[in-house]
Amino acid sequence: MEDMPVEIERNLALELVRVTEAAALAAGLWLGRGDKNGADGAAVHAMRRALARIEMDGVVVIGEGEKDAAPMLYVDEVIGNGRPPKVDIAVDPVDGTRLLALGMPGAIAVVALAARGTMYSAPPGVYYMQKIAVGQGAAGAIDINKSVAENVSAVSKALGREEGNITIMVLDRPRHEELVQQIRATGARVRFIVDGDVAAAIAAADDNTGVDMLMGSGGAPEAVVAACALKAMGGDMQCKLYFRDDTERQAAHTAGVDPETVYKIDDLVTSNDVFFAATGITDGELLRGVRYGAHQATTDSVVMRAKSRTIRYVTAVHHGDKLSNIVES
Ligand code: FBP
Repeated sequence: MEDMPVEIERNLALELVRVTEAAALAAGLWLGRGDKNGADGAAVHAMRRALARIEMDGVVVIGEGEKDAAPMLYVDEVIGNGRPPKVDIAVDPVDGTRLLALGMPGAIAVVALAARGTMYSAPPGVYYMQKIAVGQGAAGAIDINKSVAENVSAVSKALGREEGNITIMVLDRPRHEELVQQIRATGARVRFIVDGDVAAAIAAADDNTGVDMLMGSGGAPEAVVAACALKAMGGDMQCKLYFRDDTERQAAHTAGVDPETVYKIDDLVTSNDVFFAATGITDGELLRGVRYGAHQATTDSVVMRAKSRTIRYVTAVHHGDKLSNIVES
C-alpha cells in the first residue's frame, strides 16, 4: 500500500530553482540551432544531474516518457539521494522545445514537486487535456462542462469587467478553430501562442499580464505542472481528457477511466504542499531567457510554494567553473 502523503518540512522550491537553472543554462546554448532533440537532451541531462543532488526520495511521475523510450527522467525513475521526504516529481526540461530550436521567445525549463502519490497522471496512451485556467479573481467561476460563452460570462462577472474586456490565451492550432470562433462570439479578445501552455496558465493566473484565461487543449503533463503553479498563485484550473482519435478514447476505457471525468485543480495535484520552479530559456513575458557573457551567464527564475503561497523571482549570475560544471555533458 502507498504511504500516506507526509508534510514536507523544508522549502524545496529553493532547491528546485537550481535544477531549472541548470536545465536552462544547458538548453539555452542550443538557441536557434534548429535541433529540438539536441536542445531537449542537453536540458534533460543537466536537470537530472541537478535533481540527483537534492535530499529527497523522489519518483518521476511526469517525465520524458516510458523507460524504453527515454534514457533518463523517464516515468518511475527514482531520483534524489534517497532520504526523506518521499515526493512525486514532474519535469518539463524544455516547455517550448520548438520555440527554442527556432530561436523564438517563450521557452522555459520547469519542475514541480509534491508529496508522494499526489500528482495525477493521464492513462497510458492519452496525451492531451482540454484546459481552462484562471487567476484568483475568477477562482470557482469556471466549469469545463459549460459552454465557452457561459465560462467567459462567469469569469467576466467574477472580475467585474465586460466580456469584451477579457483576454483569453489559446494555443494557435487548427483544432482550436471552433473554440476561437466561440470566444470571438462573446466579444472577448484572443491572444495566440505558438507553444508553451504552462507559461500561458501562469499568465492567466497573474494579474499583471493582461491575460485572464487559458482555454483549449494541450499536453496532459503540462496540465499537471501548471496546476502546481496555480495552486501557489491561488488560481483555478479544470481539465478533461482530450482524445485526438478513437484509439486514444479507447485507451481511457481500457484504463477504466470515464472519458468525461472532470479534473479540478485539487484532482490534478491533491497535495497542498506543492513546489514549482521555472527558469527562462529564451526571452518571454514570464521570464527573461539566459544571457551568456564571456565568463558568466545570468538566469531569471520563478519559484513557488503552495503551502505558504510564496512566489519568488530569482535572478542568478553563474560564474566560470561552476557554469561549465552545470552545462558540461
Ligand atoms: P514541448 O516543448 O514539450 O513539445 O511542449 C510544447 C507545447 O506547446 C506544450 O506547452 C503544450 O501543452 C503542447 O506542446 C501542445 O501540444 P501540440 O503542439 O501537439 O498541440
